[in-house]
Amino acid sequence: MPIQRTKPEDTVSDDERAWWKESVVYQVYPRSFNDSDGDGVGDLRGLADRLDYIASLGVDVIWLNPVYDSPQEDNGYDISDYRAIYEEFGTMADWERLLEEVHDRDMRLIMDLVVNHTSRDHEWFVESRQGNPEYEDYYIWREGDGEDPPNNWESFFGGSAWEYDEEREAYYLHLYDTSQPDLDWANEDVRQDVFDTIEWWLEKGIDGFRMDVINLLSKADGLPDGDPDSEWVGSEHFIDGPEMTAYLEAMDEQVLSNYDIMTVGEMPQLTVDEASTYVSADGPLDMAFHFQHTKLDYDGDERWAVGDWDLTELKEIVGRWQTGLEGEGWNALYWENHDQPRVVSRYGDPVNYRRESAKLLGTFMLTLRGTPYIYQGQELGMTNAPWESMDDLRDVDAINHAEELLESEDHEGYDDVRDVVAYRSRDNARTPMQWDDSEHAGFTDADPWIQVNPNHDEVNVEAAEADEDSVLNYYRDLVDLRERKDTLVYGEYDDLLPDHESVYAYTRTMTEDGETEQVLVVLNFFGDRPTVDLPVQYDEATLLLSNYDRSDDAPESVTLAPYEARIYQLD
Ligand code: GLC
Repeated sequence: MPIQRTKPEDTVSDDERAWWKESVVYQVYPRSFNDSDGDGVGDLRGLADRLDYIASLGVDVIWLNPVYDSPQEDNGYDISDYRAIYEEFGTMADWERLLEEVHDRDMRLIMDLVVNHTSRDHEWFVESRQGNPEYEDYYIWREGDGEDPPNNWESFFGGSAWEYDEEREAYYLHLYDTSQPDLDWANEDVRQDVFDTIEWWLEKGIDGFRMDVINLLSKADGLPDGDPDSEWVGSEHFIDGPEMTAYLEAMDEQVLSNYDIMTVGEMPQLTVDEASTYVSADGPLDMAFHFQHTKLDYDGDERWAVGDWDLTELKEIVGRWQTGLEGEGWNALYWENHDQPRVVSRYGDPVNYRRESAKLLGTFMLTLRGTPYIYQGQELGMTNAPWESMDDLRDVDAINHAEELLESEDHEGYDDVRDVVAYRSRDNARTPMQWDDSEHAGFTDADPWIQVNPNHDEVNVEAAEADEDSVLNYYRDLVDLRERKDTLVYGEYDDLLPDHESVYAYTRTMTEDGETEQVLVVLNFFGDRPTVDLPVQYDEATLLLSNYDRSDDAPESVTLAPYEARIYQLD
C-alpha cells in the first residue's frame, strides 16, 4: 500500500491575511522631522516635502504623532481641540493635502488618538472646572482626604496624580502631567463625544489610529489606594481596569469596525495574557505595543537608573510574544519611538560599531512575526545626544525626573544626575531628523526648538544616500526582503538557541499550498566573535542578506563578526 501523505496545513488561511499585517510602518514625529517655514519647528508642509524619501524606504504606512491643537506641554499629547491642527504645524488644508499626497504614493496614514486625557485648555475641562452641568463629570474630580489628595496614586511623570484646582475647589486626576487631566470614561457622554471624534477623522479618509495609553481608560470603582511599593503606584487600579474591554468593544462596534483601517494600542505594563483579550482575531484592536523589551536596561524596576541587559531575557520576552498570543493575535514590533532613547545607544554599540549594530538591530525587528514600526532616524542609525546642561532638555518627563532626583538624593547639581537623565530622556528620540551635514542638519534654517545631535556631520540622509553600505540602504533591503517574503510576515517562529548569551538564532517557517519555506536568522548581539553550531537541516542554504560581506553558505556552524547579522533561506 502506498503511504498516504497528508498535505501539510497552510500556516495562514486567506482570512487571516490582512494588509496591515503585511505592512511596514514609518513613524513621523512632526515637530522634529522637517521645518518648511523657518521657525525652528517641524511642520506638515515640511513632512509633505519629504514624502518621496519616506516612500523610498519601501514602507506602507505612516504613523503621525499628534498634530492637533495643543498648548504643547507634552508636545501634543495634551490636546485642546481634537478637530483642529496646531498652528505651528500648519492648517487643516495642509493636513488634507498631506493625506492626499500620502495616498498618491500608495501609502496609508494613521493618526494618534489621545483620549485618556485632554489638555487643561480643552473646552470640556474649562467648562468642567467651572461646574457647567453638561461637563462637570467629564473628568475625575474628588474631594481631598483632609490635607492630602484623594488617594496615593502617582503620576507617570512624577509626584501625586492629583492636582488641586482652586476654581472648582476639588482635586482632578492626571496620570501624566498636571496639564493633562484624565477624562472620566465612566461617563457615557464622554465616550460618545470621543466616538464621534474618531468617526469624524475616519470620515476624512485616514487609515487608522495609534491609540495612546489606551489600557488606562477604566479606573477601579472607588479609586482605592495602590500598593505603595509598586513601580507605578495605583497602577493595579487603573491599568486594564474593569470596563476596559467593554469600552474598546463599544468603540469597535460603533465606529472602528465600519472602516477598513488598522489600530494599534499603546498599553503600558501589558502582559501577553492580557494582550490576547485586546488583539485576538475578534478583539477590538489589531495589535498592541507592550513595553517588556524596553525595560531590559533598567536597574531592576527603576527606570531612572541604568543596568546591564541580558540577551537571554530578551529571548524569553520575544519568544513569549511571538508564540503566546492566542486567537491569532498579532504583534507590533518596535525598538524606538518618540518616547524611547535611540536603540543603538541602548542595545548596540554607538561608538565602535554604530553601523553594524544599527543594522543588526534592524535585522531583528524586520524578521519577526508582527508589524514592524520604524521610527524616524532609526533607519540612519541615529544615536542618543549629549545633554550637557539641564537647559538643553525639553522633555517634561526628563525635566520632572531630573528635578525630583536633585531634590530627593544627595546630588549637588545636574552633573551628578546627568548620566542617567541623558541616557533615558525622551529628548534623545526628538532631536531633529538629520538630513545633511549643514549647521542645523537640514532640518531648519532657524534655531531648532531642540538641539541637533552633533554627529549629524557624519550621520545624515545625504551621506547615507551616497554610501551603498549605509544603514539606510540596508534598511531598504530589509524592507524589500520582507515585502517579498511572506514567510517573514506570517511564518512560525522557533528559537534555536534560547540559552546562548550572545547569539540569537531563529527560524521562520511557512507552509503554503503544500510547500514549506524556511528562513534562518542568525544575530550576534555583541562585539566578540563567537562560533555557534545550529540545529538546522537543509539541502541548500542561500544567504539572503548580511551586514558583512559574506558568501558563506554553511549555517550549521558559523563564526560571527561583531554585531553580525545573517539571513538565510534554507531549502
Ligand atoms: C504616551 C505617549 C507619550 C505621552 C504619554 C501621555 O506614552 O507616547 O509621549 O507623554 O502617552 O500622553
